[in-house]
Amino acid sequence: MSPLLSFSFAWRWLTSSSTRKTKKSPPSPPTLPIIGNLHQLGQLPHRSLWNLSKKYGPLMLLHLGSKPTLVVSSADVAKQILKTHDLAFSDKPALTSLKKIFYDLNDVLTLPYGDQWRKLRSVFVHDCWVLNTNTQVWINSLNGYNAALDNGVRVRDEVMDAIIDEHLNKVPTAAQSETNSSTASSRHSFVDNMLSIYKGNSPGVSIDLVSVKALTLDVFTAATETSTTALVWIMTELIKHPKVMKKLQDEDIQKMPYLKAVINETFRCHPPVSIYVRSARERVNLMGYEIQPDTMVLINAWAIGRDPSYWDEPEKYMPERFLNSSVDFKGFDFQFTPFGAGRRICPGIGFAEASIKYTIANLVHKFDWALPDGAKGEEIDVSEKPGITIGKKYPLIVVPTLSLSDA
Ligand code: HEM
Repeated sequence: MSPLLSFSFAWRWLTSSSTRKTKKSPPSPPTLPIIGNLHQLGQLPHRSLWNLSKKYGPLMLLHLGSKPTLVVSSADVAKQILKTHDLAFSDKPALTSLKKIFYDLNDVLTLPYGDQWRKLRSVFVHDCWVLNTNTQVWINSLNGYNAALDNGVRVRDEVMDAIIDEHLNKVPTAAQSETNSSTASSRHSFVDNMLSIYKGNSPGVSIDLVSVKALTLDVFTAATETSTTALVWIMTELIKHPKVMKKLQDEDIQKMPYLKAVINETFRCHPPVSIYVRSARERVNLMGYEIQPDTMVLINAWAIGRDPSYWDEPEKYMPERFLNSSVDFKGFDFQFTPFGAGRRICPGIGFAEASIKYTIANLVHKFDWALPDGAKGEEIDVSEKPGITIGKKYPLIVVPTLSLSDA
């Protein structure tokens, strides 16, 4: 073989192997035709995906139908996505169902990263304080999903239109506000504040009526079920662990560091949003793997809260692990991200924390709690209910009696 030909072969081998190296994909479980890995999600995807990750690793590539989907199950990989490559992974997948439900992606929760998202997020964050005072195309049309979705969207419209109608005429226009300054102070709800911006009362900021509805829907969907799910899990764990309940009831109500530890530990064991979703805006080299644009990313906060590199005895409910620890859910500790992290971290984090603290402090200090018919707390069923938020499968039925100190 001539030296030139040998060189040419060697060069082609070298360049093709280096291409292979940067283009390789993360480990994947085998797929089925058309549905890919959909059949492996099961009823409780956070648990099924956690089990799969034990075999395929903390960064897996699945195919949900035809959609390439990364699944993140460890704190170290989460840090790569939410910190190192946060900008590249700050999109949300534009799923058909989300488009229908969230007014064609006119809200903060589902909008792709960009100027419109930045604008709506700043409006949303600015007005959040008000709350303190007050592969579907292959199957969906056949199984009735599309019809159910359309029906849900119709009901959503009826509810949202009724809310907007109720508030619209009460909120003054910019001109009316100028002539009567007292009308401005009559606004007090999130919807009123959004409508006030819509009517031109906030110079430099403008939103249309569709965005008012979409942002209000964000509060309903992102704020209410998450917080109530968290409250039920906290009360469940307290009743299941009477010593923890007693320690909390004995705590000085002015400071309550143990309450914070109880809330943290419950979020670790039962993050209400067990899996949250991102999407790649561009091609990314992630830990040696080439990730394609539009790849969906599922961050399994539930599995990350059990990452054995960061948590001792992760299956044990132990609020004490958070005492004298700086680990918190504010988005800097990637082993504990029940509210996400990075650019798209939950903007309701402060409101959620304050309302949960306040509610639990009142419930445990004012009442003693027991299960009906003398059942033991230790025996309480902690099965989970499938859904976007993972709640308790069976309702928590408890009997309060006025605490002796309050009687
Ligand atoms: C226990 C209560 C809550 C939990 C566990 C929770 C959790 C989350 C999570 C995991 C995300 C995704 C973050 C990411 O992609 O990095 C998120 C986003 C969001 N949350 Fe919350 N949340 C809660 C309460 C609230 C409240 C009270 C509000 C509003 C008042 C709210 C509004 C939102 C919005 C608008 C987004 C989308 C942010 C964006 O994409 O830019 N959430 N939340």
